[in-house]
Amino acid sequence: MTTTISKGLAGVVADTTAISMVNPETNSLTYRGYPVQELAAGCTFEQVAYLLWHGELPDAGQLRAFTAAERARRTLPRTTQEVLGRLPEGCHPMDVLRTAVSQLGAEDPTEDSADANPGAALDLLARLPTAVALDQRRRHGLPPIPPDPALGFAANFFHMCFGEIPEPEVVRCFEISLILYAEHSFNASTFTARVVTSTLSDLYSAVTAAVGALKGPLHGGANEAVMHMLAEIGDPAAAPAWLARALAGKRKIMGFGHRVYKRGDSRVPTMEAALRDLARLRGADDLMELYDALAAAMAKAKGIAPNLDYPTGPAYHLMGFDIPTFTPIFVMSRITGWAAHIAEQLAANSLIRPLSSYTGPAERHLR
Ligand code: ACO
Repeated sequence: MTTTISKGLAGVVADTTAISMVNPETNSLTYRGYPVQELAAGCTFEQVAYLLWHGELPDAGQLRAFTAAERARRTLPRTTQEVLGRLPEGCHPMDVLRTAVSQLGAEDPTEDSADANPGAALDLLARLPTAVALDQRRRHGLPPIPPDPALGFAANFFHMCFGEIPEPEVVRCFEISLILYAEHSFNASTFTARVVTSTLSDLYSAVTAAVGALKGPLHGGANEAVMHMLAEIGDPAAAPAWLARALAGKRKIMGFGHRVYKRGDSRVPTMEAALRDLARLRGADDLMELYDALAAAMAKAKGIAPNLDYPTGPAYHLMGFDIPTFTPIFVMSRITGWAAHIAEQLAANSLIRPLSSYTGPAERHLR
């Protein structure tokens, strides 16, 4: 029997989805049919979260109710704060977040009821930023700042991290990144969430596993790796030689390439435009010269285009977030896509259990 193996499941269509469509031919991405560029230009993150979860954009009343519910749920339970406070100070914020999701599940008496999933997803949407901000301040020896229910999702996160809210353009740039990060079909972390859900495990378990999948530098961890890499290169003039050495050493260049898009990531132009506006506002010409120099060198050397993590890394840096906060921000957004996929998986479930082709020793016996 001949077996065709698709390493990394590349090119395999595992199921249908009505949540988003990634089209590498037209370089487009739609959420529930809407081009992501239009959503980034004309919607708040809360509107996009509602769209992903309910299939339609909210009307004014629905949006009011949704944002009021999100704002009312932002405070972390005391026990969660205590558990997070006991984690080693040097641990990565993604470990903190993974623990937070798991702990919130253990605290939720409705954890095993799929009917309670919409409320659990809303809890996570509202509370994960509080956990990220609390941990960010703890790493800097600062006391937590409670959430402000008068503020929208994006502005409240700045408030909880820094005690102040930057210029509206900066908040908007952040919100655009959240919208672009929210959903991307069967990426590794979303597929992880669907695999866990397919066993009829609970939403918190699926999200805990998804956080673990997103942490890796080949997925969400790349936005942090981009900033470390730009810091390592330092000078635009050094970019071509640095890249040649890195490629000769078989290094993967972080923030470049994509499993699905082979001619550029549909989200990059929107995020890059937002980054350029932000860089102008912050007078960060040097950083943008380096950013452009590395992208040009990569295009010349390998013909590989940046993915969304390439512009978000420098954008979060210019917004004042420290590097370990970058991937947790991705989680704050992607929880919307994960929860939508968990619901979709449950609605027409089939256990996800692929086959493998055995390559170990032939059958043998103890004696
Ligand atoms: N740096 C160097 N070479 C690369 C890169 C890269 N970033 N991406 C692809 N290539 C090369 C591969 O080495 C391979 O070359 P070869 O044919 O000479 O062996 C060729 O391009 C084809 O690449 P694949 O490995 O087939 O691409 P794959 O689909 O498996 O990988 C991935 C996609 C994992 C994203 C890869 O591009 C990568 O490692 N990128 C860096 C990490 C990153 O930025 N991840 C973020 C993904 S997007 C997101 O999560 C928002």
